[in-house]
Amino acid sequence: MSILIKNANIVNYDQSFVSDILINEGKIVKIAPVIDQRVDKIIDAKGKYVIPGGIDPHVHFWLPTFAGRTADNFYTGSKAAIWGGTTTVIDFVTPLHGQSLIDAYFERKAEAKDALTNVHLHVSPIEWTDLTAEEMEKLVREYGVTSFKVYMAYKKSIGIDDATLINVLVKAAELDALVIVHCENDEIIEYLRQEFISQGKTSPKYHPLSRPDDAEAEAINRLATYAKVLNVPVYAVHVSTQKGISIIKNAREQGVEFYAETCPQYLALTDEVYDQPFEQSAKYVMSPPLRKDHDRQALWEAVADGTVFTIGTDHCSFTMEQKRMGLHDFTHIPNGAGGVEHRLELLYTLGVESGKINMQRFVEITSYNVARLFKLKNKGYLAEGYDADLVIWNPDYEHVISAKTHIMNTDNNIYEGFLVKGQAQTVIVNGKILKIDGHLLI
Ligand code: URP
Ligand code: ZN
Repeated sequence: MSILIKNANIVNYDQSFVSDILINEGKIVKIAPVIDQRVDKIIDAKGKYVIPGGIDPHVHFWLPTFAGRTADNFYTGSKAAIWGGTTTVIDFVTPLHGQSLIDAYFERKAEAKDALTNVHLHVSPIEWTDLTAEEMEKLVREYGVTSFKVYMAYKKSIGIDDATLINVLVKAAELDALVIVHCENDEIIEYLRQEFISQGKTSPKYHPLSRPDDAEAEAINRLATYAKVLNVPVYAVHVSTQKGISIIKNAREQGVEFYAETCPQYLALTDEVYDQPFEQSAKYVMSPPLRKDHDRQALWEAVADGTVFTIGTDHCSFTMEQKRMGLHDFTHIPNGAGGVEHRLELLYTLGVESGKINMQRFVEITSYNVARLFKLKNKGYLAEGYDADLVIWNPDYEHVISAKTHIMNTDNNIYEGFLVKGQAQTVIVNGKILKIDGHLLI
């Protein structure tokens, strides 16, 4: 199919200009001030931005948990992503103990086959065996894996000890792959969780108290130390605290290649939401938890000054029925919330509209940086030869977020009632129009 987009206000991370864009067979084939050519479809983008399709580096679709699979599978989650202007997601491969990383990778790829977006996968070594180094090598060299995810928290299940972390960091660096890390001190958290429960403090408001900012900061500091001593690059997922950001900034100033990701929830919300009855507060139970306003402000400064490199959602949606597993014990509430649908509109509203970042920076942290860091070839940029993953962004459209109208397959929304500006009006994935003028074609 050929598509001609006329009068596009193209925004890449490094430049913006008005031009026409010709798409054919999934690729951008020509960008020029005026293109006149017979095509299957002409779209006039006058007055709109045309940006690279969003790339969300952190989603959990159809994740197996103690509360069952997460509410969004690869079909519903990717449909919500497209609605919001995200055309590529990066999900995770989490093996069982004793399972080969390669088998787990192919199982997960099969689960992802219904996705409407492009899907890339981070692979999680959860233990270090005689086979781990060899399997990591095969995943990178033969199957195109570019990153490994490890958890400093959750040691009872998928978290790893520091000796394993060091092994993974060294092997990944040798393979020119990036290690992305969930940074929270597991011992502090486990101790506090048990203390609260044994004292009868069982409601959701104890969730953030059991995961203090120091637990994140300590783990980030440890990771920065390993990165410095081993001379390897590292990436911390979902950084949520001022303390964490300040450690990362300091490490970067010392020459450590430390990349930070944060999420819209830490930029938009703060921890007073936990001080409500279970039905209102359980949806905000996620790890790390929502933080204080000074943390939120520090994260915004880091988004603006470049310390934050990417924005991922950590989309991990549960229904209220699933959340109610922890009605009498907050440690039994499945952790996570949906958000893949709202990443761009929240960043646009809270970041661009409010003047904290400009459109080029918006594009840089929501697509370009993700593509270059995780080596997603031909993605994250609008130029001839690149994949035709793009979004026509209407900067004027306003709507109120609600679980009653969202696309995600869940009955709650942590952004309920938020008035957002900007909409992915038309979304093209690999040259196919999947949303046009605000209507899904899928
Ligand atoms: O609460 C969250 N974020 N759940 C998803 C798993 C993780 O820790 O990333
Ligand atoms: Zn996550």
